[in-house]
Amino acid sequence: MTDTAPGTDEHGKPPAAHPWDELARMESPPSAFACAVTRDWPGYFKAVAGKEPRETLVKALEFIEKPGLAIDLGCGEGRDTVELLARGWRVLAIDGHEMALDLTRHHPRLPTGALARLEVVHEEMEAARLPTCDLLNASFSLPFCRPEAFDGLWERIHAAVRPGGLFAGQLFGDRDTWASLPDRSHHTRRRVGELFRGRYRLEHFQEDERDGQDARGNAKHWHVFHFVARRCPDAAIPGGPSPTNMPKGACP
Ligand SMILES: C[S@@+](CC[C@H](N)C(=O)[O-])C[C@H]1O[C@@H](n2cnc3c(N)ncnc32)[C@H](O)[C@@H]1O
Repeated sequence: MTDTAPGTDEHGKPPAAHPWDELARMESPPSAFACAVTRDWPGYFKAVAGKEPRETLVKALEFIEKPGLAIDLGCGEGRDTVELLARGWRVLAIDGHEMALDLTRHHPRLPTGALARLEVVHEEMEAARLPTCDLLNASFSLPFCRPEAFDGLWERIHAAVRPGGLFAGQLFGDRDTWASLPDRSHHTRRRVGELFRGRYRLEHFQEDERDGQDARGNAKHWHVFHFVARRCPDAAIPGGPSPTNMPKGACP
């Protein structure tokens, strides 16, 4: 064992600051959505730090009996990932911002010993490899996919969610204020229907449209589709759930 000078690590450097302490020292932004509009992700993480898991994730978990492998796509500061870990899931947390992964790995609600069930990957969702999973959670992240890459991402998500598995999150509508931003993926209600039709049964679907404003009084019109979708059974997969096991719905 090597001796270290007081206040330094084994390489003689000051120990890395705890990411949540760094977050606490940051200046507070006006609101989460003021940050999201400019993709100021550190500001966003500060604005939502410590919040409870998203409702769509909590709803999705009501439909699943046994924990398995979940992908948290665009995990942010980890509010949903830590909930999944607390409920016994293995989690692959993916985010395009390194700070998100650092905060997730050090989240104050991270259950003891849960790091062994957590893998974090720093990658853009447009290119991320998505393994087969029981649940794909994409809370408020899909609108940030570049529009030209969205259809490819949708296909990779469908390929990743096992037949009978769940897909939860949000899509943003065409009447949302941010729909005019060129780097965002927004969809009409009709297109949202087409995206799910024949592939998923919607266990929960809510269209939310309202006016809002941030702390500085900036107006924002929200048009959001919240969903929990179950991937339809795939008869071609040996041993997969058969169509007769599935409750009636939108599945073929
Ligand atoms: C609005 S935040 C949502 C975070 C978290 N899921 C939540 O519900 O609070 C969007 C997250 O997606 C990540 N993100 C944005 N664009 C991305 C991209 N192209 N690829 C991967 N992650 C991205 C951001 O770093 C951020 O953590």
